[in-house]
Amino acid sequence: MPVFLRALFLFMDIAFSTISTIIKSRRSTKPVAMNGKKIPDYQVESLLELADWAPTHGFTEPWRFVVYGNASEFSHQHAELYKCSTTPENFDQAIYNKLYDQGDKASHVILAIMKRGSLPKIPVIEEVEAVSCAVQNILLGATALGIASFWSTGGMALRQPMKDFLKLGEDDHVIGVLYLGYADSNPEGNRSIPLEKKITWIR
Ligand SMILES: Cc1cc2nc3c(=O)[nH]c(=O)nc-3n(C[C@H](O)[C@H](O)[C@H](O)COP(=O)(O)O)c2cc1C
Repeated sequence: MPVFLRALFLFMDIAFSTISTIIKSRRSTKPVAMNGKKIPDYQVESLLELADWAPTHGFTEPWRFVVYGNASEFSHQHAELYKCSTTPENFDQAIYNKLYDQGDKASHVILAIMKRGSLPKIPVIEEVEAVSCAVQNILLGATALGIASFWSTGGMALRQPMKDFLKLGEDDHVIGVLYLGYADSNPEGNRSIPLEKKITWIR
């Protein structure tokens, strides 16, 4: 085999092994398990650049991001949003406190949004899928940089008051609240359904 071909195969082996390690070692780390260290903004910018290379049907590029350089600023707003949109009878101080404190040990928060485009032939589900791919690019890039991450849809994330707060259109959606930070350890991975049960091979 020519030397350049051998070098190419070696390069592909290394690239596959690197990306496999990154994909398999990405874990969700709860923001409260982060350690308060700050991520430099330029690294978050480089993650957003990866997000922009997600696949996109019809080039609608439906991902939009609101980035908080101070995670607790988002958490405090999140808690207030909960308070303002909950009746006094239903208000739960423990939920408020949990939302309020959620970002204390994280560094940045990225709100990942699906902005519905004007191409009706692209179904909504595909726009959501494209933004989910963009989110995964962020999470994998973060893992490669030693940054812990957490994709959350809890609290007010998927509720109308959050859409109003973000001035989203009726057909736009919040896809997730991404907490980024550093952690002193990586949680164990766990998959409970065996891979074989998720695959139908037609050979
Ligand atoms: C769309 C989406 C929304 C999620 N929302 C939450 C959430 O609100 N709260 C939470 O604890 N985890 C949430 N997660 C993270 C999952 O709990 C986590 O991915 C799962 O436990 C598997 O762990 P791993 O990410 O470490 O592999 C969400 C994940 C996805 C894909």
